[in-house]
Amino acid sequence: MDKKIKRIAVLTSGGDAPGMNAAVRAVVRTAHANGMECIGIRRGWQGLITSDFTTLQRESVGHILNRGGTILYTARSEDFMSEKGRLKAVATCKMLGIDAVVAIGGDGTFRGALELSRLGVPVVGIPATIDNDVGCTNYTIGFDTACNTAIECIDRLRDTMQSHERCSVVEVMGRNAGFLALYVGIAVGATAVLVPEHETDFQKDVIERIQESRLAGNTHFMIVVAEGAGSAVEFGKKIEEAIGISPRVTVLGHIQRGGSPNARDRETATRMGYYAVQALAEGRSNCIIGTQEGGIVEIPIEEALQMKKHLQMDRYKIMETMQLGSAMR
Ligand code: F6P
Repeated sequence: MDKKIKRIAVLTSGGDAPGMNAAVRAVVRTAHANGMECIGIRRGWQGLITSDFTTLQRESVGHILNRGGTILYTARSEDFMSEKGRLKAVATCKMLGIDAVVAIGGDGTFRGALELSRLGVPVVGIPATIDNDVGCTNYTIGFDTACNTAIECIDRLRDTMQSHERCSVVEVMGRNAGFLALYVGIAVGATAVLVPEHETDFQKDVIERIQESRLAGNTHFMIVVAEGAGSAVEFGKKIEEAIGISPRVTVLGHIQRGGSPNARDRETATRMGYYAVQALAEGRSNCIIGTQEGGIVEIPIEEALQMKKHLQMDRYKIMETMQLGSAMR
C-alpha cells in the first residue's frame, strides 16, 4: 500500500461484545496520534452503504472505555452481501475521502472486510465476539466478560438449586462453538457440559453423570448447554423422562453480551485498536489483528478466514475429572 493514510473509518459489525467501545477509542486516539482523521461509521457495513457517519475527535471517545455495547451501533447487513451494496460502500469511501477502514467484529465482519479489500479499500480487522470462535486469534474481545457474566448468573442459580435440591439446565450462547460453555462449565463446576464439538451421548454424558454425582453425595446438579449443542428446554425434558427429576431450565440469552468490559477485554481491545492503526500507519493492511501466545500478530484476511480454531478437548476432560463422582467412571 503506497498511499499515505490520511483519514480512516472505524465500524463495529455483527453481535456486539463488551470491549468494542474500548477498541473504537483506541483506534480513534491512535489515529489522531498518527496525524490521521477518523470517521465513525454507524451500524456496521450498512452504515458504509448508507453513508451513516460521525466525525470522531480524540475527545469524542472519552468515557466509553468502561461502557458495554457499542456507541457506533452494530448490524448484520444483508445489502453488503451483494456486489451492488459493496459498490455503494466503496462510493461512500470515495465521497468521504476514507483511505482505510478498521472493522471490529467476528468472522462475518471479516468476510465483508475481505470483499471490500478486493474492491480496493484497505481494511484491518479487530476480532470482537463473545463466542471466541475466530480461527486466527487465541482471543476475541468480549469473551472474558461474557464468561464472567454467565458465571455470575449461574452462581446465583446454584444457590437456589442447592436450597431446593434441584437440577438446573442452563443454555449459554456461542453460536456453533462451545468455548463459552466449556470455560463457564469448568468455572462453575458443572455436572455436565454439552458442546457442539463433542457429540453428546445423552445417557453417558448427562444421565450417568447426574447419577454418579448423586451417588457421590450431591443433591443438586448444574448442566451447562452450549446453544450450538441443542436446546436446554429439550435436554430438560429428556432428563425428566429418563430419571424422573424435574429440572429448571434457564436460557441466559443476550444478557451475556451486555455489561461493562472487564480488565482483560479493555486491555486487549486497547492493544488491538492501537496495533490496527499502527499497521495502517506503517503501510500494511488487509489483515486481522490477532493474539497468539500472548503477543499481537497480523494475519492476511484471506488466510485468517481459512484458519480453524478447535475447542481444547483437554479442557473437556478436565471438566469431567473435577466431578465428585468422576472416580467412579
Ligand atoms: O455471535 C454472537 C452471538 O451472541 C452468538 O453467541 C449468538 O448465537 C448470536 O450472536 C445471537 O445473535 P442475535 O443478536 O442476532 O440474536
